[in-house]
Amino acid sequence: MSRTARTPAGTPRPADIGRRTELYGWIHRRRDLGGLIFLDLRDRSGLIQVKVDPAHAQAHATAQELRLEYVVRVRGSVVRRPPGTENKELPTGEVEVEAEEVEILNRSRTPPFALNEDRAVDEQLRLRYRYLDLRRPHMAEHLRLRHRIVKAIRDFLDEEGFLEIETPVLIRSTPEGARDYLVPSRLEPGHFYALAQSPQLYKQLLMVAGLDRYFQIVRCYRDEDLRADRQPEFTQLDLEMSFVAEDDVLDVIERSFAHVWKSVLGLEIAVPIPRLTHAQALARYGADKPDRRYGLEIEELTPAFTSTAFQVFRQVLDAGGVVRGIRVPGGVELGRNDLDSLTEVAYWYREAAGWRSPISKFFRPEELEALARSTQAQPGDLVVAVADRKEVAAPALGAIRRALAERMKLIPGGRFEFVWVTDFPLYERSVETGEITAAHHPFTSPNPEDLALLDREPLKVRARAYDLVLNDTELGSGSIRIHDPALQQRVFQGLGIGEESARQRFGFLLDAFDYGAPPHGGFAYGIDRVVMLAAGEQTIREVIAFPKNQQAEEPMTSAPAPIDPRQLRELGLELRRPPAKP
Ligand code: AMO
Repeated sequence: MSRTARTPAGTPRPADIGRRTELYGWIHRRRDLGGLIFLDLRDRSGLIQVKVDPAHAQAHATAQELRLEYVVRVRGSVVRRPPGTENKELPTGEVEVEAEEVEILNRSRTPPFALNEDRAVDEQLRLRYRYLDLRRPHMAEHLRLRHRIVKAIRDFLDEEGFLEIETPVLIRSTPEGARDYLVPSRLEPGHFYALAQSPQLYKQLLMVAGLDRYFQIVRCYRDEDLRADRQPEFTQLDLEMSFVAEDDVLDVIERSFAHVWKSVLGLEIAVPIPRLTHAQALARYGADKPDRRYGLEIEELTPAFTSTAFQVFRQVLDAGGVVRGIRVPGGVELGRNDLDSLTEVAYWYREAAGWRSPISKFFRPEELEALARSTQAQPGDLVVAVADRKEVAAPALGAIRRALAERMKLIPGGRFEFVWVTDFPLYERSVETGEITAAHHPFTSPNPEDLALLDREPLKVRARAYDLVLNDTELGSGSIRIHDPALQQRVFQGLGIGEESARQRFGFLLDAFDYGAPPHGGFAYGIDRVVMLAAGEQTIREVIAFPKNQQAEEPMTSAPAPIDPRQLRELGLELRRPPAKP
């Protein structure tokens, strides 16, 4: 089949009128007006209307046989549509192709859902027939956007002197904090590879190897609870640099975003991107992913109530807790029902005559005046407050802030607010086990100013770690790493990893550090999340060609699936429970 004369369906314009064309694609729509037959022909580039006149007998007879999603070849000429019949919605809408020849290249069963409407379709069905789902123009558009973003990133980093280097996927487990996907070894029964959760240790070893500036667009694998922005396999832009401090890494990353946004979306990002410390982010936004598309910042109200007699506040303050609140401009429009559904808040409406609240009577006038002074509330505003331990009040207010923004419809669409969060703690206490774990990963350098606290008050040690947040999503994380074997050993100790166990698990890294490791640091961001936000989508599944569903299954191929007993035997494995599904 000769392709030389092929015209992409989305391309003809008035300048092409009179041109002979050959189109290849799918029947997107078909209208038979008795005499004339109109076809919308679709390929990856878009849609064009094809008019089939009974005067072209072969073409007309074939067009009568056509059904949705048949694959065709059409030969004809580009003509202007009659005045009044133009379609402004379509880039090709001023013209159409008058068919002289129509050939059916393949037939199609009726698709299980409409491909020519933008109606919501059950996601499981879309994933089962993903090859049809991806024919829908907006899905193809997402994949095109993804391609362009990835290409812009590659071009930018190439210009900046980074080398793209591949690292292994079958590895000894890397501690990124999630559960590993394991792959049994056939040659060494009882031994397992892990699928890399990230290239973390390899990229550090590349720095020891003197490669200086590395990047990779890399698939990572993590067996964790799935959410809208989490998949078991996902793609990172992973990067590492030698002889750098925080500012160098942040600078490259933010310029990479400015480049991508400009070249792909045509939008400016103001650099440098604003920075907040982790402590500031928690205090002002109640979250380590501060959403700065709207105000409603959290305010410290403790000083207004230090001598309060209001029992609820009194008990909290006596126990060392805090009172913090949010002023909601125009919040009087929120009724009791809106507020009672929020967790445990005190609230006051500001009116011309003063405060109105079910709890006003418990406060002395000086306290209410102090409240007015610290919040600067105007008539028509609402103030909500939470009294609790600091660690509880911050996230509670973060959740309330978000709920209020939604109810007040304050979250603008199409806005991109980037912010850095720096100075994360080095360690945190696991909510489930109570154990001390690495807040980022165990190779993250502590802040040198806090080294004295490492053994005494490890939870107070700040790390040289940073996150990039876009709107309400964590895009990426990174840190300046430890390159001194002795310090690495101390940080391992803080995690309860003794010398012997560290040697056993990370001996290769500690060895490498003994051979002249350069100071180094890096970053990784989720490509899926970047494309999701750039596309204005709510889940990363919309921008991945073949994603898994929420149960980590791929409905099209039915993965995961049971395997042949012979394969198990070869691996020296035996199932203790038969698979639930055949
Ligand atoms: P981290 O574990 O924070 O850092 O991952 C970096 C970014 O990868 C994305 N991401 C995911 N995206 C989709 N599905 C998932 N399951 C998923 N998990 C993570 C997020 C996240 O911010 N090695 C370090 C980076 C470094 O220190 O250089 C790392 O992997 O966007």
